[in-house]
Amino acid sequence: MCGCLHREVFTGATLSPAEGKKRVPASEEAGYSTARCVAFAVARVFRPGDFTAMQSRGDRLMKSIVVVGAQWGDEGKGKVVDYLAGSFDYIARCAGGHNAGHTVIYDGNRFVLQLIPCGILRPGKHAVIGSGVVVDPVALAAELDTLAKSGIDVTGRLHLSNRAHLIFPYHRQMEKAAEAARGAWKIGTTSRGIGPAYEDKMARHGIRVGDLLNPARFREKLERVIAEKDAVCRATYGVPLDTAGMAEQYLELGERLRPLISDVSVLINHALDAGRSVLFEGAQGTMLDIDFGTYPYVTSSNAISGGVCTGLGVGPTRIDAVAGVTKAYTTRVGSGPFPTEMPDLEATEVRDRGKEYGAVTGRPRRCGWLDLVVLQYAIRINGISSLVVTKLDVFDTQKEIQVCIGYHYKGTPLREMPAAAEDLAEVTPEYATLPGWQSVTYGVQDAAKLPRLAVAYLKFISDFLGVEVGMISTGPDRDATIVCAATQLATWI
Ligand code: IMP
Repeated sequence: MCGCLHREVFTGATLSPAEGKKRVPASEEAGYSTARCVAFAVARVFRPGDFTAMQSRGDRLMKSIVVVGAQWGDEGKGKVVDYLAGSFDYIARCAGGHNAGHTVIYDGNRFVLQLIPCGILRPGKHAVIGSGVVVDPVALAAELDTLAKSGIDVTGRLHLSNRAHLIFPYHRQMEKAAEAARGAWKIGTTSRGIGPAYEDKMARHGIRVGDLLNPARFREKLERVIAEKDAVCRATYGVPLDTAGMAEQYLELGERLRPLISDVSVLINHALDAGRSVLFEGAQGTMLDIDFGTYPYVTSSNAISGGVCTGLGVGPTRIDAVAGVTKAYTTRVGSGPFPTEMPDLEATEVRDRGKEYGAVTGRPRRCGWLDLVVLQYAIRINGISSLVVTKLDVFDTQKEIQVCIGYHYKGTPLREMPAAAEDLAEVTPEYATLPGWQSVTYGVQDAAKLPRLAVAYLKFISDFLGVEVGMISTGPDRDATIVCAATQLATWI
């Protein structure tokens, strides 16, 4: 990435959130002025897509950005998406299900959204649930109730893909049985039925949201699936399938969801054609991706940026940039290798300071040092062009900070992330030790007010990875955010 851009992040020339929120002339509403476009075209490699967009929409460039987790999930994407959502028209989710937990805090209210994109909390914004998401309609209805209680009206703003697959209670039942059968090899799933729902999708006997709209077809499909599942469940786990009242309950929920259901690929593509901006909200994180994560200790969907194309029906040429979200340290929940995991005592301190307990399951998260090998890998797999560093304040009292800068495997330095989880479990991390800043960054909104050593920490990360740090989060509140001046990310706001 452009060296001068990420170097400038730390020169003290910053854009405060207040400045970032300033209204811009109509011609810049999409985030780029003509002048900026020319500057960008010169500063980075000029892309034909930019030219087409400029020609067809006068001086407005479409703006479509992906926000992905660069670690094992829980990086704070909820807050980041909520912050950025103010500058986008559509916020769309492409993968995962209600295993995700996106926490957003504003005006003293705390929202944990699991299925509905955080953009829904911003008045007037459209939130989209794509075909790559697996939907438990009971969970979705509960989330709608919670939003309604808080006075958030989703009418005409929430859109659910007719191609998204449904999660049924038998998926949860089969997941629990499968996890129990795995014994010591269990994955440590969220027990939401996510994996079995994706298994059915790939095995081509899934039932989709659109099926709810045709009761006769839905009943016929469900009967067929239930007969098969019951036989498998009895033979494999020795328990019958509990399906009493299920069809009626789902059809009722289908009627409630009917106004939300549509072909969202059409919706998003038309929005982009009309010059509207779209923020793609990732769920989980790169290292939990089914193909590129620490398989088999992963979730069952594509959590990487590529998931946007398959999970929303949006072509890769329509995506402008990718922001990768990382904590200032690392966490993971569930089983699986974690090279930089801290010893118990240190992990407990970080867990308590960072309130590292699962937003969905309440499980304590495993804590470790920042792993730049993981981030390097995430940058490559996702095409990350800007990093967002969250939870910087958790290190405010830390005397020394370790950062993993390489792995050794059986005495030899490793150049790439090993494919096998068993090999990753055996690597020895190589650390750089950086001095802690031991002063307050909590709530800081201006990069110029960050302690010198905190800036040095961020600069170390940016220089090592060769990617700008475009945004820093210094606390859970919406306003505890720094948008770094002269970065690519600053132009999206
Ligand atoms: P599943 O997605 O419930 O199948 O769980 C598979 C693995 O992904 C487990 O280790 C979970 O803890 C992890 N996981 C799933 N969703 C999240 C998330 O939103 N944050 C962090 N970890 C997650």
